[in-house]
Amino acid sequence: MPDWGMQNRLSRIIRPKSGHCVMLAVDHGYFGNIPGQLKCFGDLNPLFEHADALMLTRGMLRSCVSPDSDIPIVLRVSAGASMLKELSNEEINVTIEDCIRLNVSAITCSIFVGGEFEKQSLLNLSKLVNWGQEYGIPSLAVTAVGREMVRDYRYLGMASRMAAEMGASFVKTYYCEDFQNVTSICPVPIVIAGGKKTPEREALQMARNAIDAGAIGVDMGRNIFQSDKPIGMIKAVRAIVHEGAGVDEAFEIYQNGPVGL
Ligand code: 5RP
Repeated sequence: MPDWGMQNRLSRIIRPKSGHCVMLAVDHGYFGNIPGQLKCFGDLNPLFEHADALMLTRGMLRSCVSPDSDIPIVLRVSAGASMLKELSNEEINVTIEDCIRLNVSAITCSIFVGGEFEKQSLLNLSKLVNWGQEYGIPSLAVTAVGREMVRDYRYLGMASRMAAEMGASFVKTYYCEDFQNVTSICPVPIVIAGGKKTPEREALQMARNAIDAGAIGVDMGRNIFQSDKPIGMIKAVRAIVHEGAGVDEAFEIYQNGPVGL
């Protein structure tokens, strides 16, 4: 018998109708990565209505998202390192009581498999899974990639599988060649990160390839909010993820979007 609360929260993120999801990632600032468009976070609000869920930190949630909003929140609850130091050296920085108070739909942290603080990051995830079991809150594991790690299916597949074995409800990882070798060994749903900004057609192609290879969606940030047409871009990604659109059709949706936000 699935846990009702856990399942209900998860189905707010992964839409039951399509079994897929488009999450908007805006948590980059937690380690000091503040791409231009994140400087004034409030400006990103027009994108929210097009996302199935928003991934962000506690501070930005309180400051920049109206409590009237009904967008499901995937709260990043890890911190402790800036991009100037060792990124894997992070710990859990939000209590489960605050997650409940903020009415979040899922909690998330990164795991740094092969990283200097690998064990610490894996135990961080364990903490979220244990909390989740107790309170019915799903956990998203982000397979963060250190500078020295190769983003191939062997590494990303191993990290994703480890996250699933540890009890994560779903996994966020990077797209790579032969991505079906990642999804086929991971028993929980996988969403892909967008990564650094690339030309829109390339980002849409990546989303298409990921879905074709078994991902259930995206948790995309920079390739949406750094686009010249962010609304068109998120709508285009949605068409791929939820409606099975091809890249040409999605690209046209992007092109028809308004310039800026
Ligand atoms: C960093 C994250 C970020 O949310 C994610 O990488 C951002 O998405 P994008 O790469 O699409 O900008 O989890 O660990």
